[in-house]
Amino acid sequence: MKPSIFITRKLPDTVIEPLNSEFEVEMWDKEDVPVPRDMLLEKANGASALITMLSDKVDTELMEQAPSLKVVANLAVGYDNIDLEAANQKEVVICNTPDVLTDTTADLTFALLMTSARRIVEADRYIKEGQWKSWSPLLLAGADIHHKTIGIVGMGSIGEAVARRAKGFDMNILYHNRSRKPEAEEKLGAVYVKLDELLAQSDFVVVLAPLTEETEGLFQKEQFKAMKKSAFFINAARGAIVNEEALIEALNTGEIAGAGLDVFVNEPIDSNHPLLSLDNVVALPHIASSSTETRLAMMNLCVQNIIAVLKGDKPKTQVK
Ligand code: GLV
Ligand code: GLV
Repeated sequence: MKPSIFITRKLPDTVIEPLNSEFEVEMWDKEDVPVPRDMLLEKANGASALITMLSDKVDTELMEQAPSLKVVANLAVGYDNIDLEAANQKEVVICNTPDVLTDTTADLTFALLMTSARRIVEADRYIKEGQWKSWSPLLLAGADIHHKTIGIVGMGSIGEAVARRAKGFDMNILYHNRSRKPEAEEKLGAVYVKLDELLAQSDFVVVLAPLTEETEGLFQKEQFKAMKKSAFFINAARGAIVNEEALIEALNTGEIAGAGLDVFVNEPIDSNHPLLSLDNVVALPHIASSSTETRLAMMNLCVQNIIAVLKGDKPKTQVK
């Protein structure tokens, strides 16, 4: 019997083609609806490998029902949806998709920063709603980006890629990270600072840290109070790093100037959520790595990782 693989979302046939000759491949048949939990558990039972989305919880309950499971390839660089300890105990290899998405994610993060600062979404809405009556001296005047200070919280490879973009805009680069990054300091002139100093000095606070016990709820009322009133808060990491109530209050009371958000505590966020009613919020549906090229590269990497593990080889990108 061929080992079986379950894929929790519909992926293009060309992506799964390399699996077909040696494995039994089954795929949830919807692109934009997650597989129901009970079906995921049922399919995991008997599967040797899973390709999962960041919206699927891969926990003890799942692994206990999946005695033949050898590898889970998560279609994301983040893996906070996966219980690594449980995976270790069950000797299930966990893979993610770093590197292939770094520049694409950095592009979107910088675009979100620029969109927020220069009020691009508001301006688009303004013209399409027929509000444009004349050129006016301060019409939709935003904030400058060049020569301002960016503060990057989480200086992994995506953080560094954002810093490279910031350098091209002659920005001052501050960063905060668990460990120092001497190479980024030397090459990009990035300056390591404590978080409170980063918050006090930055015109743009950009969060790119993974969601961990240390970063969960890192941004509370106090952190937004510590920021400049003219500052923008950009989050392309995970929603749960931020207390959204505190963010809403900071945006409403003018503690900060605006926010660009690609991620939310609950995804998909309810369209009636108060964050979405604010003009100084630009909201995106978790699309930072979503260029066609990069999403296909991420899918192909998941497929290669699964083939490697099931053949007894070392996968390209195993989570430590
Ligand atoms: C997306 O958020 C990812 O972790 O790849
Ligand atoms: C976050 O995902 C990072 O690589 O900085």
